Amino acid sequence: MSEAAGPRTVLITGATGGIGGALAVVYAEAGGTLILQGRNAARLAELAAACESRGARVLTRSLDLRDRPALADWLAALAAQEQLDLVIVNAGVNTNIGPQGAGERWADVEALIEVNVLAVMATVDAVLPAMRARGRGQIALISSLAAYYGLPVTPSYCASKAAIKTYGEALRGWLAREGVRVSVVMPGYVESKMCREMPGPKPFLWSPERAARCIRRGLARNQARISFPFPLNFGTWWLSVLPPTVSQRILRLLDYGG
Ligand SMILES: NC(=O)c1ccc[n+]([C@@H]2O[C@H](COP(=O)([O-])OP(=O)(O)OC[C@H]3O[C@@H](n4cnc5c(N)ncnc54)[C@H](OP(=O)(O)O)[C@@H]3O)[C@@H](O)[C@H]2O)c1
Repeated sequence: MSEAAGPRTVLITGATGGIGGALAVVYAEAGGTLILQGRNAARLAELAAACESRGARVLTRSLDLRDRPALADWLAALAAQEQLDLVIVNAGVNTNIGPQGAGERWADVEALIEVNVLAVMATVDAVLPAMRARGRGQIALISSLAAYYGLPVTPSYCASKAAIKTYGEALRGWLAREGVRVSVVMPGYVESKMCREMPGPKPFLWSPERAARCIRRGLARNQARISFPFPLNFGTWWLSVLPPTVSQRILRLLDYGG
């Protein structure tokens, strides 16, 4: 696979969503294979047709990622049949403390950790052996700018994205010498169902298409961290380095205080 030509076989989880769907289209090209996962079978079929019309070969899988045995079986079969060049671990969910600050429902918290953390690690666990054996491959973990500092309105979501950020950074250091590239993607606000349902202001909102193009560029350069947009990245990074009392005050002033 030549770097200039881009990855030939790309697996995207959460392809039925805003960012995942835009990523699928951005990577759909003649000679390439896309493997698209989601739960919404109708949306998967629609997306597959759009990607096929751009010349890509498309495989789809409708699967609930909380079913980890099914996830592991699917990925094991896939790894035996396809040579995965790029795996974008993108599927995710959000929950929040509610408009009156009542708190997150425990069932939602458990489901969130299953999708945003356990399924992410299970996916990496399943695809990594073949990449290591080949000494080649790339993994992109979709974290969030919410990983820099815990936002009072979305405690579990921030915790899950911080876990994935740290996990990806560690994997990158571990696997670099083996030829397996790992990047952490930290988007700001990107138009999607999840974004619409998130509480709080949404400054510097990007379209999924713009986000997907930025992610593809960053992955082609093997950037360790692909974070955007710049002003929000800069601001949220500061939250993580300022004294926590100052960061909390800023969040309250900006209406993220819970
Ligand atoms: N949008 C933003 O502002 C933003 C900002 C930072 C980070 N992110 C991250 O970007 C990623 C994509 O989010 P998005 O904004 O594109 O949200 P979205 O449109 O709501 O898409 C979420 C995707 O995850 C899939 N998914 C959720 N739960 C699943 C489950 N149990 N089993 C299988 N698939 C499941 C959904 O599949 P179905 O719909 O088919 O069920 C959908 O494809 C997430 O990891 C999110 O945390 C988003």
